[in-house]
Amino acid sequence: MKKFLVIGNPIEHSLSPKLHNYWIKKNNINAIYEKQNVDKKDLKDLISKVRVGEVDGINVTVPFKKTVIPYLDELTYEAKNTQSVNTIYLNNKKAVGHNTDINGFETSIQKSKFNLQNKNVFILGAGGVAPSIIFALNKMKVSKIYICNRTKEKAENLKNLFKNLNVVDWGDIPNFDLIINATSLGLKKKDKMNLDFSRIGKYKLFYDVIYNPKETNFLKSGKDLGNMAVNGKLMFIYQAFSAFYIWHGIKPDINEDVYKLLD
Ligand code: ATR
Repeated sequence: MKKFLVIGNPIEHSLSPKLHNYWIKKNNINAIYEKQNVDKKDLKDLISKVRVGEVDGINVTVPFKKTVIPYLDELTYEAKNTQSVNTIYLNNKKAVGHNTDINGFETSIQKSKFNLQNKNVFILGAGGVAPSIIFALNKMKVSKIYICNRTKEKAENLKNLFKNLNVVDWGDIPNFDLIINATSLGLKKKDKMNLDFSRIGKYKLFYDVIYNPKETNFLKSGKDLGNMAVNGKLMFIYQAFSAFYIWHGIKPDINEDVYKLLD
Protein backbone atom coordinates (compact mmCIF):
# COMPACT_ATOMS: atom_id res chain seq x y z
CA MET A 1 0.00 0.00 0.00
CA LYS A 2 1.34 3.43 -0.93
CA LYS A 3 1.71 6.00 1.80
CA PHE A 4 1.31 9.76 1.59
CA LEU A 5 1.63 12.42 4.27
CA VAL A 6 0.89 16.03 4.99
CA ILE A 7 3.36 17.50 7.44
CA GLY A 8 3.21 20.74 9.42
CA ASN A 9 3.02 22.17 12.89
CA PRO A 10 0.22 22.46 13.89
CA ILE A 11 -1.47 19.98 11.55
CA GLU A 12 -4.68 18.91 13.34
CA HIS A 13 -6.88 21.20 11.24
CA SER A 14 -5.55 20.13 7.84
CA LEU A 15 -8.30 18.96 5.49
CA SER A 16 -5.84 17.43 3.02
CA PRO A 17 -6.29 13.86 4.35
CA LYS A 18 -10.07 14.11 3.90
CA LEU A 19 -9.75 15.24 0.30
CA HIS A 20 -6.92 12.93 -0.78
CA ASN A 21 -8.43 9.85 0.88
CA TYR A 22 -11.77 10.61 -0.80
CA TRP A 23 -10.07 10.72 -4.23
CA ILE A 24 -7.92 7.65 -3.42
CA LYS A 25 -11.07 5.66 -2.63
CA LYS A 26 -13.01 7.00 -5.64
CA ASN A 27 -10.18 5.89 -7.94
CA ASN A 28 -9.64 2.49 -6.27
CA ILE A 29 -6.03 3.26 -5.47
CA ASN A 30 -4.27 1.14 -2.86
CA ALA A 31 -2.96 3.99 -0.73
CA ILE A 32 -3.41 5.95 2.46
CA TYR A 33 -2.88 9.65 3.18
CA GLU A 34 -2.18 10.69 6.77
CA LYS A 35 -1.30 13.84 8.67
CA GLN A 36 1.79 14.08 10.81
CA ASN A 37 2.81 16.80 13.23
CA VAL A 38 6.57 17.23 12.90
CA ASP A 39 9.44 19.30 14.24
CA LYS A 40 12.20 20.77 12.13
CA LYS A 41 14.59 18.06 13.30
CA ASP A 42 12.36 15.35 11.74
CA LEU A 43 12.45 16.76 8.21
CA LYS A 44 15.70 15.13 7.10
CA ASP A 45 14.57 11.61 8.11
CA LEU A 46 11.15 12.03 6.57
CA ILE A 47 12.58 13.04 3.22
CA SER A 48 14.99 10.08 3.34
CA LYS A 49 11.88 7.89 3.58
CA VAL A 50 10.73 9.30 0.24
CA ARG A 51 14.12 8.45 -1.28
CA VAL A 52 13.85 4.78 -0.24
CA GLY A 53 10.17 4.46 -1.12
CA GLU A 54 8.91 4.11 2.44
CA VAL A 55 6.79 7.20 1.88
CA ASP A 56 5.49 7.89 -1.63
CA GLY A 57 4.76 11.58 -1.39
CA ILE A 58 4.52 14.45 1.08
CA ASN A 59 2.50 17.65 1.22
CA VAL A 60 4.18 20.35 3.24
CA THR A 61 2.35 23.11 5.07
CA VAL A 62 3.03 25.91 7.58
CA PRO A 63 5.73 26.50 8.75
CA PHE A 64 7.96 24.19 6.68
CA LYS A 65 7.43 25.19 3.04
CA LYS A 66 10.83 26.88 2.95
CA THR A 67 12.53 24.90 5.72
CA VAL A 68 12.34 21.60 3.78
CA ILE A 69 14.35 22.94 0.85
CA PRO A 70 17.90 22.08 2.06
CA TYR A 71 16.89 18.41 2.54
CA LEU A 72 15.62 17.92 -1.02
CA ASP A 73 17.70 16.74 -4.01
CA GLU A 74 15.99 18.87 -6.62
CA LEU A 75 13.52 21.71 -6.91
CA THR A 76 11.18 22.35 -9.82
CA TYR A 77 11.26 25.74 -11.53
CA GLU A 78 8.19 26.83 -9.54
CA ALA A 79 9.58 25.75 -6.17
CA LYS A 80 12.94 27.35 -6.84
CA ASN A 81 11.48 30.67 -7.87
CA THR A 82 9.15 30.91 -4.90
CA GLN A 83 11.46 29.22 -2.37
CA SER A 84 8.33 27.38 -1.34
CA VAL A 85 7.61 23.63 -1.49
CA ASN A 86 4.22 22.11 -0.78
CA THR A 87 4.56 18.82 -2.69
CA ILE A 88 7.38 16.27 -2.59
CA TYR A 89 7.73 13.28 -4.93
CA LEU A 90 10.36 10.84 -6.11
CA ASN A 91 11.81 11.10 -9.61
CA ASN A 92 14.88 9.14 -10.79
CA LYS A 93 15.68 8.26 -7.17
CA LYS A 94 15.70 11.95 -6.27
CA ALA A 95 13.43 13.66 -3.78
CA VAL A 96 11.92 16.55 -5.72
CA GLY A 97 10.24 19.60 -4.21
CA HIS A 98 7.46 21.27 -6.17
CA ASN A 99 4.92 24.05 -5.60
CA THR A 100 1.27 23.39 -6.53
CA ASP A 101 -0.05 26.41 -4.59
CA ILE A 102 0.76 28.49 -7.68
CA ASN A 103 -1.49 26.39 -9.86
CA GLY A 104 -4.12 26.30 -7.12
CA PHE A 105 -4.26 30.07 -6.95
CA GLU A 106 -4.16 30.55 -10.72
CA THR A 107 -6.95 28.07 -11.38
CA SER A 108 -9.14 29.53 -8.64
CA ILE A 109 -8.83 32.98 -10.24
CA GLN A 110 -9.62 31.55 -13.68
CA LYS A 111 -12.73 29.88 -12.27
CA SER A 112 -13.84 33.18 -10.77
CA LYS A 113 -13.92 34.57 -14.34
CA PHE A 114 -12.18 37.75 -13.22
CA ASN A 115 -9.88 38.88 -16.01
CA LEU A 116 -6.58 39.92 -14.49
CA GLN A 117 -4.75 41.07 -17.55
CA ASN A 118 -3.44 44.64 -17.07
CA LYS A 119 -5.11 44.92 -13.67
CA ASN A 120 -3.63 46.21 -10.43
CA VAL A 121 -3.35 43.82 -7.52
CA PHE A 122 -2.89 44.57 -3.84
CA ILE A 123 -1.58 41.78 -1.58
CA LEU A 124 -1.97 41.94 2.18
CA GLY A 125 0.67 39.83 3.92
CA ALA A 126 4.17 38.62 3.09
CA GLY A 127 4.10 35.24 4.85
CA GLY A 128 4.44 31.70 3.51
CA VAL A 129 1.76 31.83 0.80
CA ALA A 130 2.71 35.22 -0.68
CA PRO A 131 5.50 34.05 -3.08
CA SER A 132 3.19 31.49 -4.72
CA ILE A 133 0.53 34.13 -5.29
CA ILE A 134 3.01 36.63 -6.71
CA PHE A 135 4.50 34.00 -9.05
CA ALA A 136 1.00 33.15 -10.34
CA LEU A 137 0.08 36.83 -10.77
CA ASN A 138 3.21 37.45 -12.82
CA LYS A 139 2.33 34.42 -14.96
CA MET A 140 -1.11 35.93 -15.50
CA LYS A 141 0.50 39.20 -16.61
CA VAL A 142 -1.10 41.59 -14.19
CA SER A 143 -0.11 45.23 -14.50
CA LYS A 144 1.08 46.21 -11.03
CA ILE A 145 1.51 44.35 -7.77
CA TYR A 146 1.36 46.26 -4.50
CA ILE A 147 2.12 44.48 -1.26
CA CYS A 148 2.02 45.45 2.39
CA ASN A 149 2.86 43.57 5.54
CA ARG A 150 2.54 44.49 9.20
CA THR A 151 6.28 43.83 9.44
CA LYS A 152 7.34 45.85 6.40
CA GLU A 153 10.81 44.29 6.18
CA LYS A 154 9.31 40.93 5.19
CA ALA A 155 7.57 42.54 2.23
CA GLU A 156 10.82 44.29 1.27
CA ASN A 157 12.64 40.94 1.42
CA LEU A 158 10.29 39.49 -1.18
CA LYS A 159 11.83 41.87 -3.69
CA ASN A 160 14.83 39.52 -3.75
CA LEU A 161 12.54 37.01 -5.47
CA PHE A 162 10.26 39.40 -7.35
CA LYS A 163 11.75 42.65 -8.57
CA ASN A 164 8.42 44.08 -9.73
CA LEU A 165 6.85 44.41 -6.28
CA ASN A 166 5.70 47.80 -5.00
CA VAL A 167 5.88 47.76 -1.21
CA VAL A 168 3.48 50.09 0.62
CA ASP A 169 2.98 50.79 4.31
CA TRP A 170 0.40 48.76 6.23
CA GLY A 171 -2.63 51.06 6.33
CA ASP A 172 -2.06 52.65 2.91
CA ILE A 173 -4.54 51.57 0.23
CA PRO A 174 -3.30 51.93 -3.36
CA ASN A 175 -5.64 51.81 -6.36
CA PHE A 176 -6.43 48.15 -7.04
CA ASP A 177 -8.75 45.85 -9.02
CA LEU A 178 -8.01 42.71 -7.01
CA ILE A 179 -7.13 42.60 -3.31
CA ILE A 180 -5.86 39.41 -1.70
CA ASN A 181 -5.73 38.62 1.99
CA ALA A 182 -2.62 36.47 2.38
CA THR A 183 -2.35 37.05 6.13
CA SER A 184 -3.63 34.72 8.80
CA LEU A 185 -6.01 37.46 9.96
CA GLY A 186 -9.51 36.04 9.66
CA LEU A 187 -8.80 32.49 10.78
CA LYS A 188 -10.54 33.46 14.02
CA LYS A 189 -14.10 34.67 13.48
CA LYS A 190 -13.54 37.77 15.56
CA ASP A 191 -10.42 38.83 13.61
CA LYS A 192 -10.87 42.27 12.05
CA MET A 193 -8.57 44.02 9.64
CA ASN A 194 -7.76 47.56 10.68
CA LEU A 195 -7.82 48.83 7.09
CA ASP A 196 -10.22 51.42 5.69
CA PHE A 197 -11.76 50.33 2.39
CA SER A 198 -14.55 52.93 2.39
CA ARG A 199 -13.07 54.92 -0.50
CA ILE A 200 -11.98 52.20 -2.91
CA GLY A 201 -15.09 52.17 -5.14
CA LYS A 202 -17.00 49.10 -6.36
CA TYR A 203 -16.73 46.05 -8.62
CA LYS A 204 -13.33 44.93 -7.34
CA LEU A 205 -12.51 41.36 -6.41
CA PHE A 206 -11.85 40.59 -2.75
CA TYR A 207 -9.97 37.28 -2.48
CA ASP A 208 -9.15 35.57 0.79
CA VAL A 209 -6.73 32.66 0.95
CA ILE A 210 -8.63 31.54 4.07
CA TYR A 211 -11.60 29.21 3.42
CA ASN A 212 -12.50 28.30 6.98
CA PRO A 213 -14.43 30.37 8.07
CA LYS A 214 -16.14 30.57 4.68
CA GLU A 215 -16.60 34.30 4.87
CA THR A 216 -14.01 36.28 6.78
CA ASN A 217 -14.73 39.84 7.94
CA PHE A 218 -12.41 40.94 5.13
CA LEU A 219 -14.64 39.31 2.49
CA LYS A 220 -17.79 40.53 4.18
CA SER A 221 -16.57 44.13 4.24
CA GLY A 222 -15.70 43.88 0.54
CA LYS A 223 -19.14 42.53 -0.32
CA ASP A 224 -20.92 45.13 1.81
CA LEU A 225 -19.19 47.81 -0.25
CA GLY A 226 -20.38 46.35 -3.56
CA ASN A 227 -17.46 44.11 -4.52
CA MET A 228 -17.14 40.45 -5.43
CA ALA A 229 -15.78 38.01 -2.87
CA VAL A 230 -13.97 34.69 -3.31
CA ASN A 231 -12.53 32.54 -0.54
CA GLY A 232 -9.57 30.15 -0.70
CA LYS A 233 -11.51 26.92 -1.05
CA LEU A 234 -10.84 26.46 -4.76
CA MET A 235 -7.18 27.30 -4.28
CA PHE A 236 -6.99 24.57 -1.66
CA ILE A 237 -8.82 22.07 -3.87
CA TYR A 238 -6.70 22.78 -6.95
CA GLN A 239 -3.36 22.61 -5.14
CA ALA A 240 -4.46 19.16 -3.94
CA PHE A 241 -5.66 18.26 -7.45
CA SER A 242 -2.22 19.03 -8.88
CA ALA A 243 -0.42 17.04 -6.18
CA PHE A 244 -2.77 14.10 -6.73
CA TYR A 245 -2.06 14.17 -10.46
CA ILE A 246 1.70 14.20 -9.87
CA TRP A 247 1.56 11.24 -7.47
CA HIS A 248 -1.10 9.07 -9.12
CA GLY A 249 -1.21 10.22 -12.74
CA ILE A 250 -4.97 10.67 -12.42
CA LYS A 251 -6.96 13.90 -12.60
CA PRO A 252 -9.49 13.50 -9.77
CA ASP A 253 -13.09 14.71 -9.99
CA ILE A 254 -13.96 18.06 -8.51
CA ASN A 255 -17.68 18.14 -7.86
CA GLU A 256 -20.37 19.02 -5.31
CA ASP A 257 -19.31 16.11 -3.08
CA VAL A 258 -15.79 17.50 -2.91
CA TYR A 259 -17.08 20.97 -1.98
CA LYS A 260 -19.31 19.46 0.73
CA LEU A 261 -16.48 17.38 2.09
CA LEU A 262 -14.63 20.55 3.02
CA ASP A 263 -17.54 22.42 4.66
P1 ATR B 1 4.96 33.45 8.64
O1 ATR B 1 4.82 34.93 8.95
O2 ATR B 1 5.77 32.69 9.64
O3 ATR B 1 5.35 33.18 7.22
P2 ATR B 1 2.31 32.85 7.87
O4 ATR B 1 1.18 32.22 8.59
O5 ATR B 1 2.73 32.32 6.57
O6 ATR B 1 3.53 32.85 8.86
O7 ATR B 1 2.04 34.41 7.67
C1 ATR B 1 1.26 35.13 8.53
C2 ATR B 1 0.98 36.48 7.86
O8 ATR B 1 -0.10 37.10 8.54
C3 ATR B 1 2.15 37.44 7.96
O9 ATR B 1 2.11 38.26 6.81
C4 ATR B 1 1.80 38.22 9.22
O10 ATR B 1 2.38 39.49 9.34
P3 ATR B 1 3.80 39.66 10.08
O11 ATR B 1 4.84 39.24 9.09
O12 ATR B 1 3.89 41.10 10.43
O13 ATR B 1 3.76 38.76 11.29
C5 ATR B 1 0.31 38.36 9.04
N1 ATR B 1 -0.40 38.66 10.28
C6 ATR B 1 -0.65 37.81 11.30
N2 ATR B 1 -1.35 38.45 12.28
C7 ATR B 1 -1.55 39.73 11.84
C8 ATR B 1 -2.20 40.89 12.38
N3 ATR B 1 -2.80 40.85 13.58
N4 ATR B 1 -2.20 42.03 11.64
C9 ATR B 1 -1.60 42.08 10.43
N5 ATR B 1 -0.96 41.01 9.88
C10 ATR B 1 -0.95 39.86 10.55
